[in-house]
Amino acid sequence: MSTLNISVLNKEDWPTYRALRLLSLQDSPDSFGSTYGSEIKFSNEEWLSRLDPDNQAKYALPLIAELNGVAVGLAFGVLHRPFDKTAHIYQMWVSPSVRGQGVGSLLLNKIIVWAKDCDVDYLCLAVTTVNLGAIHLYKTTGFESYGSLEKLRETSALAVQPMRLKL
Ligand SMILES: CC(C)(COP(=O)(O)OP(=O)(O)OC[C@H]1O[C@@H](n2cnc3c(N)ncnc32)[C@H](O)[C@@H]1OP(=O)(O)O)[C@@H](O)C(=O)NCCC(=O)NCCS
Repeated sequence: MSTLNISVLNKEDWPTYRALRLLSLQDSPDSFGSTYGSEIKFSNEEWLSRLDPDNQAKYALPLIAELNGVAVGLAFGVLHRPFDKTAHIYQMWVSPSVRGQGVGSLLLNKIIVWAKDCDVDYLCLAVTTVNLGAIHLYKTTGFESYGSLEKLRETSALAVQPMRLKL
C-alpha cells in the first residue's frame, strides 16, 4: 500500500528542498519565472534562509509531498507582508512519474486551508498560458483569471496568466 505524506519543510530540510526545487526547474523550465541556471548558483545559506521561520519563511507555508518516503512534490504558500489581504502560491511542482494521481490537488488544498487561516481575501498565482494541465487544475479548484498577461521572464516569448481564488 502506498503512503502519501504532505508536510511543512523546516530549515533543516534545505538539502531536500534544494534538490527538489532544482529538479523542478530542470524538468519544467517553462512553468516558472525563475531558472535552473540562476538557482543553481544559490549558496547553502540562501536555501536555508528560504525555509527559515525567522527569515523568509516567516509568513509562508513551504510544503513537500512524499510518496513512500520519496520526495515527489513541492508547493510554497507565501504572504509577502503580515497583514496582506492576498496570499500567493509559488513553486508548485509534482514529479512526472506521479502526475495525475491527485498530489497537485492535495498540495493546492493544503495551501488554500493555510491561506484561509491567514484571513486573506485572495490566493493568487501565475500560470503559463500553454500549461493547460495546470490551468485545468486551478480552474476546477475555483481559481479565475484576472488582470493582464505578463511575460514569463524578460527574455521569454511565453506569457503567464494571473489567476486568483476568492476565499
Ligand atoms: C500542474 C501539476 C502540479 C499538477 O499536479 P498533479 O499531481 O498531476 O495534479 P492532480 O493529479 O492533482 O490533478 C488535478 C486535476 O488536474 C488535472 N491535470 C493535472 N495535470 C494535467 C495535465 N497535464 N493535463 C490535463 N489535466 C491535468 C487532472 O486530470 C485533475 O483533474 P480532474 O480532477 O478533473 O481529473 C503537475 O502537472 C506539474 O508539476 N506540472 C509541471 C510544473 C507546473 O506546471 N507547475 C505549475 C506552475 S503554475
